[in-house]
Amino acid sequence: MSFIMDLLLLATSWAHVLLAPYTKVEESFNLHATHDVLMYGVGRDNLYKFDHNIFPGAVPRTFIGSILLAWLTSPVAYIASQWGLLSTKLDLQIAVRLVLATLNATGFMLIRRAVCRRFGRPTGLMYVLLTCSQFHLPFWMGRTLPNMFALFPVNLGFYALYDRAPQSQYPTRRSVDVAFALLTFTAVVFRSEVALLLAPLAIQALLLRHISFMRLIRVGFLSAVLSIGAYCSLYAETSATVERLALTVTIDSYLWNQWPLWPELYGIYFNVYQGKSSDWGTSPVHAYFLSHLPKLLLGSLPLAVLGAMLDNRVRALMYPPVLSIALLSCLGHKEWRFIIYVVPFFNVAAARGARWMVIRRKGGLFGRITFLAAMGILALNCVITIVSTRASMANYPGGSALAIFNDQYADQHAAQVHISNLAAQTGASLFLQSHSPPYIPSITAPATNDWVYNKTESLSPRDLTASTPFTHVIAESSAEFVKTGRWKLVDSVQGFSRWKLNLPRGGIAKVLEVPLHQWLSVLEMETNNQLYILERAKQDDTCQN
Ligand SMILES: *[C@@H]1O[C@H](CO)[C@@H](O)[C@H](O)[C@H]1NC(C)=O
Repeated sequence: MSFIMDLLLLATSWAHVLLAPYTKVEESFNLHATHDVLMYGVGRDNLYKFDHNIFPGAVPRTFIGSILLAWLTSPVAYIASQWGLLSTKLDLQIAVRLVLATLNATGFMLIRRAVCRRFGRPTGLMYVLLTCSQFHLPFWMGRTLPNMFALFPVNLGFYALYDRAPQSQYPTRRSVDVAFALLTFTAVVFRSEVALLLAPLAIQALLLRHISFMRLIRVGFLSAVLSIGAYCSLYAETSATVERLALTVTIDSYLWNQWPLWPELYGIYFNVYQGKSSDWGTSPVHAYFLSHLPKLLLGSLPLAVLGAMLDNRVRALMYPPVLSIALLSCLGHKEWRFIIYVVPFFNVAAARGARWMVIRRKGGLFGRITFLAAMGILALNCVITIVSTRASMANYPGGSALAIFNDQYADQHAAQVHISNLAAQTGASLFLQSHSPPYIPSITAPATNDWVYNKTESLSPRDLTASTPFTHVIAESSAEFVKTGRWKLVDSVQGFSRWKLNLPRGGIAKVLEVPLHQWLSVLEMETNNQLYILERAKQDDTCQN
């Protein structure tokens, strides 16, 4: 039974990766960093080829997650290629994402274990069903967002704190130490907002006497210092092994070629101190509670409230994440991914509520009604998830366009294609540059591998027409190109535009006559042309004279 529950968690995370293999702009820094580490290694000679040196973003970000992910993926890719499962660069991208998904699924499996132990198996099962039927977290857990790197150590910390016998008051000393060391490491290296979950958890641990103040400071300080890498730079000369520890300042200063660089601190300086985060837009104070949480949690939100009402262990579990969201609500700029770490906490609470609803299904009318209501909530989760997944699958026109392009011209030599901004942001990642080096032994280079993929921004159709090396473009509109007489439209690529509701009309009697299969198309997905593949017209050479 435990095995099946874990398998369900893993299968869900893999399904989302396989259904929507392409990526978006938010993921691209870490995805490309992983690509570069896989392809070039981290030796000094190849650093200039790294994508962040060619296209630097607004703020430096940490490489640590990407390096670890690349190192984990390498052997997996090797084995997969031996079994014939991996041949193109896109396969490698999928492998990278599956490894990350597996890692995060492992975090959820551990929490599942803790839930089974503390609240019993039925609650563990409800936890798994609620987690798998949600959309956001399963969809994102295999995507290289910095927050998804942070999620794994946060979940490990969560597991360390809550994996104990049903009525036990105290976690062991060692697991409290481990939990706070992990959370500190995550806040320092990956995502500073984790500090705002760490703080309420620390206050609670102090109030409940799970840890003494001095010990907490010591653990936090040691973990922070180690993570910052001050230790490392001080002792680098004396101890070669210490130098190898993956610590943020050392690693990131090296890769960004700035000394010293601590990306998360710089991020706080840039976003909070200089107030730049407001440039990304501000939301009202209640946005997390009233808009983001309901979307992230779906049916788990009401169930979590129920769980907290029923069980004081659940209440104790919920204070820190709720306080953490309240603290984050004070910052103007809000995004769902800043609060993603609280979702497992809420799902545990919701599982407790759901168990109460399903446990008395044989005990009279009330029990039967609550059982049906719980099943209804799960079914509603599934419907929302299926609809959202369907839309997301069609929402990566850049990835589809480049994949189509690669296929269509597979035999051509020396193609030079310009990739528009929208295409680059919606899936045309470095992993899709299949006809151009670099290659590693795990993947087979195609017969034609001398193409140039160019994603230089703000080149107008005129620039692109005048710039003769370009043989093809993937553009956001075709009219301006075709108008010049130099380009031929080859294909257009559709992307998700909106959902359309086709409600049957004409009164109750008519509606009742509507055949069953027609009800399936009540919700219809509309797509529109978003990208165009154009080829330089053949007469181009002769026309010019
Ligand atoms: C992309 O094309 C532009 C315009 O021709 C050129 O200036 C730029 O150097 C090219 N970039 C790469 C990476 O080839």
